[in-house]
Amino acid sequence: MQILTDIDSLEPYYGWSCVPTMGALHDGHRSLIRQAVATERPAVVTIFVNPKQFAPGEDYATYPRNLDRDLDIARAEGAAAVFTPAVDDIYPDNGDVWDPPLPAVANGPLLEDAYRPHFFAGVCTVVARLFDLLQPGECFFGEKDWQQLQVIRALANSHAERWPHLSVTAGQTIREPDGLAMSSRNVYIADDQRDRALAISQALSLADQGEKAMRQLLVSANLDVDYAVVRDAETLLDADEHRPQRALIAATLDGTRLIDNAVV
Ligand code: PAF
Repeated sequence: MQILTDIDSLEPYYGWSCVPTMGALHDGHRSLIRQAVATERPAVVTIFVNPKQFAPGEDYATYPRNLDRDLDIARAEGAAAVFTPAVDDIYPDNGDVWDPPLPAVANGPLLEDAYRPHFFAGVCTVVARLFDLLQPGECFFGEKDWQQLQVIRALANSHAERWPHLSVTAGQTIREPDGLAMSSRNVYIADDQRDRALAISQALSLADQGEKAMRQLLVSANLDVDYAVVRDAETLLDADEHRPQRALIAATLDGTRLIDNAVV
């Protein structure tokens, strides 16, 4: 497996399958890497903890980082290369990095966009930069970050001339046996908080009973609820019974913010 750090030597990797990550790889990433490896193209995993998607006071400094372990995982899953750029490569001092206009799904639904107002601007900037640098053929993103997935799809669709060979493919959410969605931030959940964290996946299973039922369960587990909603699965605006719907939850458990979603 090749380890790529030089942004000026990436041309041979254009058109590859690509799994962008912030490292701290877990079974959800493993599954995305396997999907990428199963394509007819070789797969590159990118590992970059993107400072622009963290607000001051969020966990950028303490975000879990373990490059050696991540490289072992990428290698074991069959990635042909890992791209681990430095912050200065992604954001050079001359400031010459494109900030793409935000798609409507990044600032209309008042979900993650309301609670982390800096987040999608940071995600779109880094993802566009990675697309520019690697010109991937197919890129894989997890459904666990459902709004992010819709934002990235909209970004790719609205700049098809810039990334003509790119398609965006979703990977399903991988869960622990007890139902907790895999996340790099699960390391913050203490054993004695686990039952309360499970209220999130349990609440999603109540989505067909309505938003009130989801919220009640979360509140009874003493979670601080940002939102527990049923929305149009693509626009994330009000649900329409004739279109696919998605239930989405964000809630905080003693300082750890967790998100999850499910089909309704
Ligand atoms: O989902 C993530 O890990 C990140 O938001 C992403 C898409 C790699 C951009 O930094």
